[in-house]
Amino acid sequence: MKKIPIWFDCDPGVDDAAAILAALQLDALDIKGVSAVSGNVLLEHTYPNARDLIALGGRADIPVYKGADRPLRREPVTAAYVHGENGLGGAEIPPSAAPEQEKKAWDALYDAAVEAEGELILVAVGPLTNIGMALAKYGDLPRLIKKAVIMGGSATMGNTTPAAEFNVYVDPEAADMLFASGIPVVMCGLDVTLKAKVMPPEIDKLAEYGPQGKFLSRALQTSLAFTTSLGFDGVFLHDVCPVFYCVEPDMFTAELAGVRVETKGRYTAGKTVTDLYSDYQFDFKNTLVVLDVNREAFVDKFMGLMAKYGRQA
Ligand code: RIB
Ligand code: CA
Repeated sequence: MKKIPIWFDCDPGVDDAAAILAALQLDALDIKGVSAVSGNVLLEHTYPNARDLIALGGRADIPVYKGADRPLRREPVTAAYVHGENGLGGAEIPPSAAPEQEKKAWDALYDAAVEAEGELILVAVGPLTNIGMALAKYGDLPRLIKKAVIMGGSATMGNTTPAAEFNVYVDPEAADMLFASGIPVVMCGLDVTLKAKVMPPEIDKLAEYGPQGKFLSRALQTSLAFTTSLGFDGVFLHDVCPVFYCVEPDMFTAELAGVRVETKGRYTAGKTVTDLYSDYQFDFKNTLVVLDVNREAFVDKFMGLMAKYGRQA
């Protein structure tokens, strides 16, 4: 089977952790590199978290690169109130013993794109600052990236403001650089990720799946406390959606649209402006907006991948 070459950019983050651990069990993926960005918590946490999660998943051989410690043009905004001060819901994992990489994330991403000869798929599940840096530095990057499958944005509501989803809100300028770049985008926004939910019994079950499942179950308990305080009945695995889209797109429903990002609005900065529901249509269609997922198939796949850790323990 020809493996799918991907680059994984993240801001771990509890749902980033779920996405990393699931991705490491997907034989169809060839993870060329991982990069960390300031997002859910500052880079001083997201970078070691990314390293430690890759090691926890048994793939300390995958290089992890340090990215931007702040957005392109704004002050950092974090979400420790969701993910805990350490970004992993207070759950602890052993530190990675892998050697640290000197290369910056955007340089490593470009080099991997050159090496993949246009076949590299970018999976980005945090603020898009590293991608913005790479686009600013390397003018030929867009023709070297096959597509960008992101967790971010929304065709409707926001979760950080009424207009904006967190990843795009943190760095709207970087996000708009991606949507304007010519790289085909698959946008797994809140429209679909708020349906990609795990429930308390499933969170408890994870603890049976080796040290990886035990860690994730503990981390998700923190997320569950937050989401239930808002009246929800489960935890949204936002960042798992783009990973699963890469290997099983038929699990999802998506529509082609034009998307750009508002960067100036007092109330709308960070909004992904889509023409999906608009009479007025942009003169471009740059994005597949993912709108729905089969939740049962999603959760079955996720739990099945995590169960592999239990059999490997
Ligand atoms: O809005 C949800 C997104 O913001 C997820 O990627 C979460 O990890 C945070 O980065
Ligand atoms: Ca994330």
